[in-house]
Amino acid sequence: MRGIGKVSLIGAGPGDPDLLTVKALKRIQEAEVVVYDRLVSQEIMDLVPPKTALYPVGKKPKSHPIPQEEINQLLVDLAKEGKRVVRLKGGDPFIFGRGSEEAAELVTAGVDYEVVPGITAAQGCASSLNLPLTHRGLATGLRYVTGHCQKDIPLDLDWASLADPNTTLVIYMGLAAIKEISAKLVEHGMPTDMPAVAISKGTTSEEQKVFGTLTTISELAKEAKLPTPTLFMIGDVVGLKGTLELTSYSGSDAKWGERPHLEVING
Ligand SMILES: C[S@@+](CC[C@H](N)C(=O)[O-])C[C@H]1O[C@@H](n2cnc3c(N)ncnc32)[C@H](O)[C@@H]1O
Repeated sequence: MRGIGKVSLIGAGPGDPDLLTVKALKRIQEAEVVVYDRLVSQEIMDLVPPKTALYPVGKKPKSHPIPQEEINQLLVDLAKEGKRVVRLKGGDPFIFGRGSEEAAELVTAGVDYEVVPGITAAQGCASSLNLPLTHRGLATGLRYVTGHCQKDIPLDLDWASLADPNTTLVIYMGLAAIKEISAKLVEHGMPTDMPAVAISKGTTSEEQKVFGTLTTISELAKEAKLPTPTLFMIGDVVGLKGTLELTSYSGSDAKWGERPHLEVING
């Protein structure tokens, strides 16, 4: 009889399969079962050996076909059957990924597990845009914030601290609420011309991005009809757009430490 199995909670990164860690790839290749989310890209799913059993449990915004409790139970049951289980999630499993809820259930059920971190969307998208998340003189800190609000309940965030102009804000799950988020940040003192970017399907071949300012980004993202998943980056580091790219450096008049004049670019 087989003993109890093990679950690997693995971050698949933001989409580009080359951003998978070596450890994640090894676990995927050794897995008997892969339980995966909607945000895991097809290129990464193509790395799963053909004989591995697959369980898609993806959620879409406003649609949760498989309740989280059932996903938790599935992981416990598969491990108790003695399987080597990979639980594959987009980005990092412990950043807005409900990985810790799954870990708690595994611990309660006495199932061994490990976490294999992934590159979170903020890091993947910022790199894809050739933008830093922090930069001396521009951003002394960084905050990852959820823009997801429960049905009909206004976002309850600490707006006064989020409006700090020295901190880069990265908004996950913010597509539906970006108008409200921008308005609240302005209301709490963030400069209206603070550079902002919306990036959709970052690091993949379908990546799209829209640059603007705190006051224009919501309308520009709407006009561009950006699909999910979309991430927003707000802060002076976004004003470095183009300056860290060799091709455009000589033509840029942006200087370190000053907010460059931004043209609004759709694309
Ligand atoms: C439920 S959260 C999961 C975050 C994930 N655990 C991570 O660390 O990136 C989903 C949100 O992540 C962001 N996201 C994930 N992948 C992305 C990508 N490739 N491009 C843009 N945003 C992405 C979007 O804001 C999306 O709404």
